[in-house]
Amino acid sequence: MRSTILTGDRPTGALHLGHYVGSLRNRVALQHEYDTFVLIADLQALTDHADDPALIRQSVIEVALDYLAVGIDPAVAAIVVQSQVPELAELTMYLLNLVTVARLQRNPTVKEEMGQRGFEADVPAGFFVYPVSQAADITAFGAHLVPVGADQLPMIEQTVEIVRRFNRLYGSVLVEPEALVPGVGRLPGTDGAAKMGKSLGNAIFLSDPAEIVAKKVMGMFTDPGHLRVTDPGRVEGNPVFAYLDAFDPDRSAVALLKEQYRAGGLGDVALKRRLIEVLEGFLGPIRSRRAVFAQDLEPVHAILREGTARGRARAAGTLTAVRRAMGLYGDLPGAPD
Ligand code: TRP
Repeated sequence: MRSTILTGDRPTGALHLGHYVGSLRNRVALQHEYDTFVLIADLQALTDHADDPALIRQSVIEVALDYLAVGIDPAVAAIVVQSQVPELAELTMYLLNLVTVARLQRNPTVKEEMGQRGFEADVPAGFFVYPVSQAADITAFGAHLVPVGADQLPMIEQTVEIVRRFNRLYGSVLVEPEALVPGVGRLPGTDGAAKMGKSLGNAIFLSDPAEIVAKKVMGMFTDPGHLRVTDPGRVEGNPVFAYLDAFDPDRSAVALLKEQYRAGGLGDVALKRRLIEVLEGFLGPIRSRRAVFAQDLEPVHAILREGTARGRARAAGTLTAVRRAMGLYGDLPGAPD
C-alpha cells in the first residue's frame, strides 16, 4: 500500500507565497508518489472566524482555485472540504479526552497565535483545542507524512502524542505521522517580518495581478543601512534576497547579485526589478491557470465534491476501526444493530 499525505489550509482568504514555499511546493512535488489528500479546513477557519462564515464560504473556492493553479492535480490528489466530512468532528470529540488543558497551553503555535489575536481566557474554546481537531484530520486520513511550514511542527508533535496515547489505551489503530518541513525555512513578509501573513498585511498572493506584485516588491523592506547605491548592503535578513533564494531558478545569478550587493554598487531598485521579473516568471503561469478555472466554477465544485467523497470514504474507514477499538456501544463486532 502506498503511503499517505495529508495537509490543509484554513480558508480565510487567498493563499500567498509563504503558503507555497512552506507546503504547496512539497505537495505538488509528492502528489504522484503518495496517496494525497488536501484539506480545505473550513471547520478550523471557524475557530477564529465564527462571526464571518461568508468569508469562509467564499475562501473555500479561492483556496481551491489556488490549489488547482499551482498544480495540485485532482486526478491524483483529493481536495477535501473539511466540514463535509463529519467523521472529523466525531474523531475530534474522542481525541479531546486524550489531551490536557496544560498541554494545549504549552503548544507554542497556539500560544503565538493567541498572542497575535489578543486572546487570553476569552479565547474561543474551539480555537484553543484546534490542535486536537488537526490531530483528527491527520489521523482520520491515516497520514504518514504531513508537509507543512515550520510553524506547524508543534501540531504534528502533539498529534504523535495523542496517537501514542490512543494506541496504548485502545489498541494500535491510528498511524503516527511525520512532518515534512522544507529546507529553505520560512519566507519572510515584504516588511521583513519573520512570517508572511494575510492578517499581517505583508503578503504577496498567488492571485495578485502583475502590477500589484510589482508595487509590493518596490515597497519591500531591504537593508535600512543601504542608502546609496555605492554603499555595501546586507544580504542576511534582507527579504528581497530571501525571495530570490526561494524563487530564482538561476542560482549562480543570485550568488552574483549577493556578491555585488555586499560589495556596494548594486542599488535596491535594480535588485527589486530583478525580483519582479523572477516572481512574474513564477506567478504568470499560475495566474493564467487560475483565470481558466475561475471562468467556470462548476467543474471546480465537481472536483471538490469528488475529492470530498474520496476523503470521506477514507475517514469513515478509520472511524469504524476507532469505534470498534474503543468498544463503543453498538460498535463491538457482533453487537446488536
Ligand atoms: N493549521 C493549518 C494552517 O493553519 C491548517 C490545517 C488544518 C492542517 N488541518 C490540517 C495542516 C492538517 C496540516 C494537516 O495552515
